[in-house]
Amino acid sequence: MDPCTLVIFGATGNLSRIKLMPALYSLEREQRLPEGMAILAFGRRPWNRERWIEEVSGMLAEKYGDAVEEGAYQRLCSKLHYFQGDLDDDQAFQRLRQELEDNPALPKNMVFYLAIRPADFGPVVERLGGVGLLQEAHGWRRVVVEKPFGYDLLSAQALQRSFLKHLSEPQLYRIDHYLGKGTVQNILVFRFANLLLEPLWNRNYVDHIQITHSETRGIEGRAEYYDGAGALRDMLQSHLMQLLTLVAMEPPAGMDAESLRDEKVKVLKSIRPITQNAVHAHAFRGQYARGVIDGKPVPGYLEEEGVPQDSITETYAALKLYIDNWRWRGVPFYLRTGKRLARNSSAITIRFKEPPHHLFRNTHLERFLPNWFLIGIQPHECLRMEIQVKEPGLEMRTRPMSLDACYRSDQDQGTDAYEELLLDVMKGDHSLFLRYDEVEWAWRVVDPVLKVWSMERDFINTYPAGSWGPRGTYRLFDREDQFWRHTLDLDGMDVSSEVY
Ligand code: BG6
Repeated sequence: MDPCTLVIFGATGNLSRIKLMPALYSLEREQRLPEGMAILAFGRRPWNRERWIEEVSGMLAEKYGDAVEEGAYQRLCSKLHYFQGDLDDDQAFQRLRQELEDNPALPKNMVFYLAIRPADFGPVVERLGGVGLLQEAHGWRRVVVEKPFGYDLLSAQALQRSFLKHLSEPQLYRIDHYLGKGTVQNILVFRFANLLLEPLWNRNYVDHIQITHSETRGIEGRAEYYDGAGALRDMLQSHLMQLLTLVAMEPPAGMDAESLRDEKVKVLKSIRPITQNAVHAHAFRGQYARGVIDGKPVPGYLEEEGVPQDSITETYAALKLYIDNWRWRGVPFYLRTGKRLARNSSAITIRFKEPPHHLFRNTHLERFLPNWFLIGIQPHECLRMEIQVKEPGLEMRTRPMSLDACYRSDQDQGTDAYEELLLDVMKGDHSLFLRYDEVEWAWRVVDPVLKVWSMERDFINTYPAGSWGPRGTYRLFDREDQFWRHTLDLDGMDVSSEVY
């Protein structure tokens, strides 16, 4: 790998603290960072290098406690530099260019990581371009953009146009950190490295598919960003839509970035548009009210610091989508996400149709349960298949059983998505990053919902923190026997949860 300078805008912010610096430390510990690499923090505070190193040491202690290895830490520190400047100061960017050109410790291949407010993406690229830092005359120049890319379809298009004045598409790395998660990449392996599933993976056998991300945490001091975004933009348009493409796509011609992304875009283009008058049949939103999480009372969304009293921002969003192609026509995909829900869990659950003929009708079998195929993404990385077996004994009774392939043992070390993604940027591999057309097509899917919700400003359903979301979401289901699958355990089929 070529040595490079990683310039982090927003280096003292939340993302850097929680994800980027710990990931860089972890890569250093594994000796995966390129020799001679430099990490330059761009920050507003009047700090020097020593003060920044102290700060980083605090970030690592927060994440790893006493487990920080001295050798790796020292190696990481030797790569750290600090540059003081304001994002909206043209002079600061002139000085930055000077520093990057003149300091021999800073390699001339550069990654600019925008870990900043989405509203600053455009202006920062504009300033970098303005001082010539994005021209690839002496070494490559890459820009990493966090999500959300735009605020809706029109703003995404405008942002892309402003980027293209200074950058070409191959210089851009749009992050969706879900794609860096091991289990998410495993979806492709399950599907395309095993013959077993492929014949069943279509409208002839699949009843419906649910993609869920639920979390118990609230907005954690991010009101400024979150209140303008909401769950549909924050999670659904990005992470959940990406999971949908991986579950639904056709086998790509190869595992290279373009073949993969071509197939993902085909899925997004095939999603049946939601017309404005069908929004209520396809989408449901809610906002958390006070409740109890892990036995402790927690405030409602409107009581969180920085949230306006009359906010109708959704902290829960559910969507029903149809993919109108040969493989999936007629199969509903139910996507849902929420903050302050009952559990932390991300999973894809696939329910199969019932057998066409009830052979066991005149026996003691009370109720037929369909097969489920479950992909646990976090916290439990697993693959489960639920099938019916005969209970031991003289009677012909059945019960569901779960075949469990837990493919991560406690000894296997997990890596954080950001480790993989940072390495890929440095290697120049785009496979796990979003191409512009993916982003644009994902906005096309949710745009009608955003429009209707933004017009309906006087009411939003609420749900108590610690529950499974607002009442009434069952109306999204196509049939009465469909219900939210809350957990991957057999009790996840508890139909008493249907009302939520
Ligand atoms: C982020 C969202 O992209 O993903 C957060 O902005 C959300 O609101 C987070 O909590 C979830 O990511 P993870 O990796 O913790 O599942």
